[in-house]
Amino acid sequence: MKTMEDAYVIRGGKPLKGFVQLSGAKNVALKTVIAALLFKGPVELHNIPEIRDIDELIHLLELLGAKTERTEGSLRIDATTLSTHEVDMLHGSKIRTSFLLFAPLLYRFGKASIPNPGGCRIGARPIDRIVNGMKNLGVKVNYESETGYYNATLSGKPKGNYVFEKPSHTGTEFMIMLSVFCEGVTKIENAALEPEIDDLIAFLNEGGAKIKREGTSILVTGVESLSQKKPYKIMADRNEAVTYAILGLITGGDVTVSFVADSEFMTFVSAVKQVGGGVEKTDKGWRFFAKGPLSASQIVTDAHPGFMTDWQPNWAVLMTQAMGVSTIHERVFENRFAYVAELQKLGARIEFDMKKIENPKDYYFFNYDDKKEYKQAIKIFGPQKLHNGVLTVSDLRAGATLAIAALLTQGESVVNGVSIMERGYEKFIEKVINLGGDIKRL
Ligand code: EPU
Repeated sequence: MKTMEDAYVIRGGKPLKGFVQLSGAKNVALKTVIAALLFKGPVELHNIPEIRDIDELIHLLELLGAKTERTEGSLRIDATTLSTHEVDMLHGSKIRTSFLLFAPLLYRFGKASIPNPGGCRIGARPIDRIVNGMKNLGVKVNYESETGYYNATLSGKPKGNYVFEKPSHTGTEFMIMLSVFCEGVTKIENAALEPEIDDLIAFLNEGGAKIKREGTSILVTGVESLSQKKPYKIMADRNEAVTYAILGLITGGDVTVSFVADSEFMTFVSAVKQVGGGVEKTDKGWRFFAKGPLSASQIVTDAHPGFMTDWQPNWAVLMTQAMGVSTIHERVFENRFAYVAELQKLGARIEFDMKKIENPKDYYFFNYDDKKEYKQAIKIFGPQKLHNGVLTVSDLRAGATLAIAALLTQGESVVNGVSIMERGYEKFIEKVINLGGDIKRL
């Protein structure tokens, strides 16, 4: 077999200018594809990005017996032929969202076996909240450490309510999917607020589900079945939007990204305004442009509508170019600073700066352990002229971060391990070339 290099070669230093048509949101696509298995008959989804995570998921669905058909941007899934309740170990453990398959498999077979989920290396990422949620709705579940499988069974319909001790984005989506056919009404409390969840709700409701959000409470009234009446188009990827916005700002360029709803994007837009970046809404979307020196910022990541954890790695590179000392405090994931060592290789002055937090167990979204030492905050000293270098990608958003840094600096850089980034960014090379960037894949 021919081994493929896994790197981008980037010659940076050029202002990036032009328009980016955003792809469909990865973090909706993955969920709607799985939720499609809850439907009677075929489901058609539009705006599904061509990314590695989706390729993996489609493969997994086919191994389960589903039929899928993909044409540019759209995906047809028919779960009528699902033939097994057991998710393949090799492929299932590659994507974290595979645990969402508990919902359709329990519905179809009354049982499900799913390997311990993998995904990006941004923390321990346990699924305790999901397992507890299932139990609260009457599912029996146990983990078999010898095989690495979670085995779950459900007799009859799911029934009950669930209060998340701490909110979880995919956890909330899972509980919604599991409750669609519940007995009576299931109330999910302390649910997460991300707009990606609401897109999933809209998709399910169009198919006949009865899901209603009231702030952080979600009420699901059980229905008998779901069936699709017309194709569903998923929302644009606001995380991808942030990457291209920052590319426009940091390279002294001018980039317009296609439309993202105000409610999904205002926190980012406000942050850009606050540091003195150029941003305006045009009839084509959101325009980001350089308009003078940037000032430092103090960012604390949060759940929606706060500053998303997915944006902070990209933001950190921008802050290496801002006047003064910026800080970033990461509350959502426990290991999202792997990019720091890589940026340091390019000459960035970034230091870890862990200040004392009064109630860390409440403050952080992950399960805080008193015995562990955490590095959740950094200081960035700017402005700093970065130079080119050879970099290695550790996780998805770190990948985009290193690509941004390479596109900023003069000379040739090599970014290794880009297949991790391609799990979530559709046609990155094409889009960057379209903006006038010099990038190729090895
Ligand atoms: N957590 C637990 N136990 C659980 C569930 C979550 O400890 O049972 C922890 C997580 O490890 C994390 C925190 O709670 O530290 C919050 O996690 P959450 O469940 O909200 O995040 P997620 O659902 O795993 C999704 C996105 C992330 C995005 C976050 C925040 C998907 C597939 N992933 O993760 O996206 O950063 O929500 O909105 O939807 C990415 O796209 O690069 C990415 C990581």
